[in-house]
Amino acid sequence: MNGSRILGTGSALPRRVVTNAELAERVDTSDEWITARTGIRQRHVAGPDETTATLATAAARAALADAGVDATSIDLIVLATATPDNTFPATATKVQDSLGCNGGIAFDVAAVCSGFLYALSVADSLLKTGMAKRALVIGAETFSRILDWEDRTTCVLFGDGAGAVVLDAPGTDNAGKDAPGILCSRLHADGAQHDLLYVDGGPSTTQTVGHVRMKGPEVFRHAVVNLAAVLREVIDEAGVSVDAIDWVVPHQANARILDATAKKLGIAPDKVVITVDRHANTSAASVPLALDVARKDGRIKAGDLVMLEAMGGGFTWGASLIRM
Ligand code: ACO
Repeated sequence: MNGSRILGTGSALPRRVVTNAELAERVDTSDEWITARTGIRQRHVAGPDETTATLATAAARAALADAGVDATSIDLIVLATATPDNTFPATATKVQDSLGCNGGIAFDVAAVCSGFLYALSVADSLLKTGMAKRALVIGAETFSRILDWEDRTTCVLFGDGAGAVVLDAPGTDNAGKDAPGILCSRLHADGAQHDLLYVDGGPSTTQTVGHVRMKGPEVFRHAVVNLAAVLREVIDEAGVSVDAIDWVVPHQANARILDATAKKLGIAPDKVVITVDRHANTSAASVPLALDVARKDGRIKAGDLVMLEAMGGGFTWGASLIRM
């Protein structure tokens, strides 16, 4: 029996676009440096009226419309974010109320850039046990609110946005590698690497929100090793060949990480969906955003075998293989 099925996808981006050239007016950087080291050309940045919840709600509405189902059929919302509207309650509950599907399960998951992979697995597990029938799985972030805009080593890397999928519980007819559904997911964490990528604030420590701090080159090295390992794990567990994978939808941190990971596994670069040039790193939103882009532009079609993968602070990392 396969896992839950993706019925639809959606995404939302803040109105304002900030180019590399604009950032170069604020900090000592250049379009050439950012493009060469990361592949990023621009990012979207939330305005005062845009929050993680408003972006998440817009992405969720788009996913519901794409799936052709009503919000009232949703009885589970799992929202991945590191930038919630409030410390509590969960931003998922705000989204639930905005969509008018109150009464079901709604909570947030904190796994930073891997958050969507964690949220997808948790939702899939709950759907498989029968705790819920239809889920919205959302990745939504406003990282611009936790960036130190004076720190050129981090502020050029991130952007804001949201992506969502509607996930249906597996049906009884849903068996075999060719049937739609999540075939295999694997998640990992290594808390010993906490200090390589973290936010230097929080309710229980500083009582401030804090700013992103990162040792970029070390994160880069761990990312390539961990992502290649979890992709190999999922491929072996699912019993598919690398060549059978139609598309890889990776977390969009840095074009060089995407290239290096694909190369390590022998995946052709033209099978890797890349949006980091337009969106930068939107943390938990990046995988569902890229998935939606590649579905809407016609690249990812029903029946395709799609690998999602991500790594982020913690460290946390994971991958999911899905028949669309
Ligand atoms: N503009 C100009 N120069 C800069 C900038 C900037 N924005 N940022 C750093 N530099 C300088 C550094 O100060 C350094 O100067 P120095 O040699 O005089 O000391 C030089 O550029 C090289 O810096 P490095 O940090 O070694 O550059 P590197 O090639 O490693 O690129 C980067 C940095 C882009 C952060 C890279 O390490 C990276 O992408 N790491 C992965 C981090 C990441 O993606 N994190 C996101 C979250 S985790 C995840 O999603 C997987």
